[in-house]
Amino acid sequence: MKILVLAGDGVGPEVTGQAVRVLQWFAQNRNLDLRLTERDFGMTNWQKHGTLMPDETWEQIQAADAILFGATGSLDQAAVIPPEERRKGSLLRMRKGLDVFANMRPVKMQPALAEGSPYKPRVTEGVDLIFVRELTAGMYFGTPRGVETLPDGTRRGVNTHTYTEAEIRRAVRFAFELARSRRNHVTSVDKANVMEAGALWREIAGAIHKEEFPDVGFEHMLADNCAIQLARNPTRFDVLVTDNLFGDLLSDAAGAIIGSLGMLPSASLSAPDAQGRRRALYEPIHGSAPDIAGKGIANPLGSILSVAMMLRWSANRPEDAALLEKAVEGALAKGARTADIASPGEAVVSTSGMGDAVIAALENAAR
Ligand code: IPM
Ligand code: MN
Repeated sequence: MKILVLAGDGVGPEVTGQAVRVLQWFAQNRNLDLRLTERDFGMTNWQKHGTLMPDETWEQIQAADAILFGATGSLDQAAVIPPEERRKGSLLRMRKGLDVFANMRPVKMQPALAEGSPYKPRVTEGVDLIFVRELTAGMYFGTPRGVETLPDGTRRGVNTHTYTEAEIRRAVRFAFELARSRRNHVTSVDKANVMEAGALWREIAGAIHKEEFPDVGFEHMLADNCAIQLARNPTRFDVLVTDNLFGDLLSDAAGAIIGSLGMLPSASLSAPDAQGRRRALYEPIHGSAPDIAGKGIANPLGSILSVAMMLRWSANRPEDAALLEKAVEGALAKGARTADIASPGEAVVSTSGMGDAVIAALENAAR
């Protein structure tokens, strides 16, 4: 497996470093054939090369079987780098260029963290849901976009929410297929009551259910209602499928359930090519967290659990993926806590301390 590591900005290098350690453990102990390449991404590139994304990095991105991405964005980035360059070198360009439309964001309650959640244990117990967020269209990419000056001299910011039938169809199909391997239920989330693109989304999702997946439980839900259902009764969900912007907002909101965004992994996949291979981008859903960068206190579990998704979806090693997920559960059960998931009075480990705890749990499980 050719893996390109793009650790990026802020806490990216710290958390990704622990995820790479875990990958190397699988290479050494479970015969994972691993070829790792690392490249700078983001501000480091800008400082070294005067561009966020050198052409050579873009070639590496396209040649990789899978990409392990850390985080991007820093406050000075917005101030220093011109908008065209930001767009060219951005995470969004990578998502679009790789056409990784299916962004999976699992939210699974860790029993050991029940006390760390802002929600009551009776609400969080057994939460095991997954978002399929459409990642390459919608509000993030629609045109026209920009800031224009009106005849009266004032400015207007413009973004456009667009979805073609094909873009909706492939995301929704992906969600139905995923549901068949889980608890067999899909919730399709839109604002069909307000948006034309939402009404089209609803029409197509309903038709795909009826014509192709009648065996899968299905419901439509308005996005605002979905926000409150996620807070009140998150165990009612299995697979949620939604557009790029709602998926961004709702997955963060769902992250609150398990206590810290630092815990959440993601995988983004393209359609399979003729050989059945999908392009794949793995990243924790948290950002670069500049306020805690460089302190060695960030939670690496979002990145480590993204490696588990990589083992499942790119390496086709479901047993290794499960082994790693068990090891994370085991490390937490033994009390390993980074600051973001520690309850008052609990001892705290560093970023690399959490990596140690996961590796120890892997050693234990393999013995
Ligand atoms: C995410 C992030 C990104 C997004 C940002 C960093 C562009 O918030 O992956 O959820 O909005 O998609
Ligand atoms: Mn987000």
